[in-house]
Amino acid sequence: MPITDHRPGDDTWRVGVLFSNSGFMAVIEDTQLRGTLLAIEEINGRGGINGREIVPVIYDPCSEPVVFGHMAKRLMVEDRVTTIFGCYTSSSRRAVIPVVERLNGLLWYPTLYEGFEYSPNVIYTGAAPNQNSVILCRYLLENYGRRFFFVGSDYIYPRESNRIMSELVRRQGGEVVGEAYVGLRARRHEFLPVMRQIRAASPDVVFSTVVGDGTVYLYQAYADAGFDPAVMPIASLTTTEAEIRAMGFDVGEGHITAASYFQSIESSGNAGFVSRYHHRFGEDEPTNACVEAAYFQVHVFAKALESTNSLDTDLLRPMVLGSAFEAPQGAISINEASNHANLWTRIGRANRRGQFDVVFRSPSVVPADPYLVSTGWGLAGGLA
Ligand code: ACM
Repeated sequence: MPITDHRPGDDTWRVGVLFSNSGFMAVIEDTQLRGTLLAIEEINGRGGINGREIVPVIYDPCSEPVVFGHMAKRLMVEDRVTTIFGCYTSSSRRAVIPVVERLNGLLWYPTLYEGFEYSPNVIYTGAAPNQNSVILCRYLLENYGRRFFFVGSDYIYPRESNRIMSELVRRQGGEVVGEAYVGLRARRHEFLPVMRQIRAASPDVVFSTVVGDGTVYLYQAYADAGFDPAVMPIASLTTTEAEIRAMGFDVGEGHITAASYFQSIESSGNAGFVSRYHHRFGEDEPTNACVEAAYFQVHVFAKALESTNSLDTDLLRPMVLGSAFEAPQGAISINEASNHANLWTRIGRANRRGQFDVVFRSPSVVPADPYLVSTGWGLAGGLA
């Protein structure tokens, strides 16, 4: 039976939402759920789309990639949803992709990832490596030194991201002096051997691709081991204001993150977003890059839906591609060639208030290049 837009007589737009509010990824995925809901509430508060409210059908996949796959199928087959907002880990995205490809749905994925992927059934609104790793690598080499130590959670994003980062480091004259992985569900004590490895390798900088609760344990173990972030910081793409809040502002201070968005961005658009978020979820709840992407992608979707007046993926996709939106990070657009978002690049250093002081911002929006074509990846002559 074909998947249809809506049930007969249904006067709403039903969409699926898949972020974990339980399990080891809830520290960040719960914030993405909030960003999604805030945008939906804003749109409904203005009367919905063409007179119909957006109604989210929300499931908690409990941080388990296989459950993401099952719930995506349930959303599409039983709930008859065609559009799904969701996923943080690359493992969960990969579990959902076969479902949306088979049933012609559209997954909106608001998380930075390792790149080197394209699906006609995914809109990627988080950063690809050319929008964070390339610039971060150069910044670390220039400011901290050439000896890198990699620590990651053991799944696809860290393995692939480190493969890219090690190539970037080597091509620019740096060296990877050690690499360690911990399980996705690692507890705090499992980071102690990693601290010994770091001490023995004596790097200039640590590049972390640890995610979820593991991030908190890594930085706490690092502080306990007596490493000084002012001299040898942990640099990351996944440590946002949310993880810094969970680990403690004193523990996070001095560490580096590359992202398209930080709460501290000074613009009227961001001030409005942060104040609405605080009003809805509490003054103590920081925004972060993953919330922001989860938020703006719903608005991008809503603009397209206004034109199509249909949730049919084949009608919606062409309206989404090439569309633009004034996001809290600045003006963004959806790249027609790759289904990825053209985003800003920033580097921030965490301060004692759990916020990031921005130490670098790209002069303009950085076009998505998920296969690193513009950096000469895989070509003789190396990176620009
Ligand atoms: C990630 O797994 N894409 C952070």
